[in-house]
Amino acid sequence: MGVPEGHSDAGLEAALSFASTVSGAVRLVPLFIGRGYGRVTTVYDLISSKNALGDKSLFLNLGYWEGGESYDEACEKLARVLANAVQMSRGDRVLDCGFGFGDQDIFWAETFSPDKIVGLNITESQVRRARERVRERGLSDKIELLNGSATAMPLEDAAFDRVTALETAFHYHTRETFFHEAFRVLKPGGVLATADITPLEGRRRGILSALGWSLGRSFWQIPPENFYEWPEYKKKLEAAGFVNVIGRSIRDRVYSPFVEFARGRLSDPEYAAKFDPLFRWIWKAAVAGGDAYSHLDYLIVTAEKPISAEPITRA
Ligand SMILES: C[S@@+](CC[C@H](N)C(=O)[O-])C[C@H]1O[C@@H](n2cnc3c(N)ncnc32)[C@H](O)[C@@H]1O
Repeated sequence: MGVPEGHSDAGLEAALSFASTVSGAVRLVPLFIGRGYGRVTTVYDLISSKNALGDKSLFLNLGYWEGGESYDEACEKLARVLANAVQMSRGDRVLDCGFGFGDQDIFWAETFSPDKIVGLNITESQVRRARERVRERGLSDKIELLNGSATAMPLEDAAFDRVTALETAFHYHTRETFFHEAFRVLKPGGVLATADITPLEGRRRGILSALGWSLGRSFWQIPPENFYEWPEYKKKLEAAGFVNVIGRSIRDRVYSPFVEFARGRLSDPEYAAKFDPLFRWIWKAAVAGGDAYSHLDYLIVTAEKPISAEPITRA
């Protein structure tokens, strides 16, 4: 007796989904052993466009929430907050580090009209997809996307008016090296702005939140060298040559509303079904703990390269 067609399709689908969950889980294992950093591209290859949280966009950040927005809108708002912080304007040459799937660059090109945005991203699979999306939007003459690291930029000295890093600098090995690279490629008078995650000043972690953080830091491949609070962050920027270094916490507009959104949305079976089973579980686990983000700050940081700065060439 033959198997009805619908059944065989459903069976095949279930088998493929199981196989992809197992192979994803196997690829996750090395993230939790060894140094706990250096495999960031594995993380983003696994997330892929399939497991991004948005309905329309492929943003991969925590969003800036004022009330009632969708995830896509909150992510775009965070991109807007950063563009305003860096004073992105018509005619600027912008370097954007860690651009994900390029949503922020498309948004900035269409909204702030800089002359050119050059993007730099270490995850090749994202760069390929982002290039396609830029082409489809007819923005290839405005946005150029490169595969490379923000800690060793394949770029000329003093070539940019603005450098941005939207929820990405905590990944770099190290963030401090990035500060020096950003200073090198900025023109005198240029501005760097980051939207970044740091430990909250003076906040001690309880055992559960320490455990959650340790798992989270391994999953996201965050180097231990980047765990410092705002005063140290500021000092490192100043040591790289920056002046007028300002940090503003927006944590209240980020963590709690994001957790509330994600918990609510992931409990909707139709929405949850769009993720690979592994990520359905990972995203739920990431927002399950009551104080998952209680020891973290979320900063918008700006820093200027002095007008009088001498060029600094990488050794
Ligand atoms: C949390 S995602 C944020 C993506 C995007 N900015 C957004 O808001 O949707 C972090 C991004 O940083 C990139 N990244 C991590 N380490 C990097 C490095 N050393 N140089 C450049 N990009 C890096 C990842 O590939 C990923 O695109």
